[in-house]
Amino acid sequence: MCTVTCIASINIAVIKYWGKRDEVLILPVNDSISATLDTDHLHAKTTVMTSSTFKEDRIWLNGKEEEIKNPRLQNCLTQIRKRARNSNQWKVHICSENNFPTAAGLASSAAGYACLVVALAKLYQIEDDITSIARSGSGSACRSVMGGFVKWCMGSESNGADSIAKQIVPASHWPEMRILILVVNDTKKKISSSIGMKRTIETSDLMQHRIKHVLPNRIKIIEQAIIEKDFKTFAEHTIKDSNQMHAVCLDAYPPVVYMNDVSHTIINFVHAYNEAVNEVKVAYTFDAGPNATLYLLEESVPEFMGVLDHFFPPGINLEQYRKGLTFKEVINSQELFNKINTTRQAPGSLKYIIYTKVGNGPKYLEDPNDHLLNKEENHII
Ligand code: DP6
Repeated sequence: MCTVTCIASINIAVIKYWGKRDEVLILPVNDSISATLDTDHLHAKTTVMTSSTFKEDRIWLNGKEEEIKNPRLQNCLTQIRKRARNSNQWKVHICSENNFPTAAGLASSAAGYACLVVALAKLYQIEDDITSIARSGSGSACRSVMGGFVKWCMGSESNGADSIAKQIVPASHWPEMRILILVVNDTKKKISSSIGMKRTIETSDLMQHRIKHVLPNRIKIIEQAIIEKDFKTFAEHTIKDSNQMHAVCLDAYPPVVYMNDVSHTIINFVHAYNEAVNEVKVAYTFDAGPNATLYLLEESVPEFMGVLDHFFPPGINLEQYRKGLTFKEVINSQELFNKINTTRQAPGSLKYIIYTKVGNGPKYLEDPNDHLLNKEENHII
């Protein structure tokens, strides 16, 4: 019997992956760039176990047994077994859970597939690139296989062999970078990213402009900004790319709408704040949902938290509302509040916020107490 447990976290793209050129292999129409977040706050944890006594492959997700025949899961398992360096032919049991609510609309599949593939790679002793295997589970998952700032190169080969993720810089390169996730209260049922991007690529004319005329240059500029730690350029292109992704979504027919009124209020607020301080101190980005992710430097956090709490008053006590890293003292400046040209929201428009940083990528957990599967072949959670 052999058991491996691993944790991996979500990543938040600053240049969005939006559109596939191959739906089965999950090959994108553009390069994308993201930061992998710290595993302390938002991670998937996965245990994989093989044993001669297992009769079939099985999977449990967040405490519930799920269908192992899921094609994306099968893609990963098949490729792992093809590349295995050992001759382990035993069946595998997989158990995975997130330490954050899936319903919050955060990119749980990226963390989940990255974690699964990293764990399986150790079990089957695979030593070369595994990002392409994670990619075949969920495109953005390939970027969570490593820490720091990561680029997913779209590649050009039809079998996807060169569509892999590579680290641009490790987290230690820009240790001042912080991330604030603003979880927006929302009840609307969303269109999955797979469906949203398919509809966009099939029906949006603007999408061609984005792929051909905007992204090639933007990718180069933001990569350089990350290397040079040029926050202003990084922030401006992050903002523009999020807005462009949502613009091509609106250009789809029928339109694909992910942001809600609160999302738009956050956008206006961030621009009003940057204008009031006369500097681009905060960047926002939105994935396929209404939640905002903000990138900012640690030195900006006390002042920004002061204005955020003023304009978006928490609806619950601060202990439940602020999750993640401990906040340094928050600065409240009435003078700055007066300068910010936007309206104050009713308490509770944000469900909660998560404060985190860029992380080092997946980690193996060696302590047997961390395993989610036990010897009796039962899942523990
Ligand atoms: C908006 O990776 O979830 O988060 O490949 O179909 O599983 P599939 O899509 P997924 O798409 C993520 C889209 C995004 C942007 C990004 O992370 O780059």
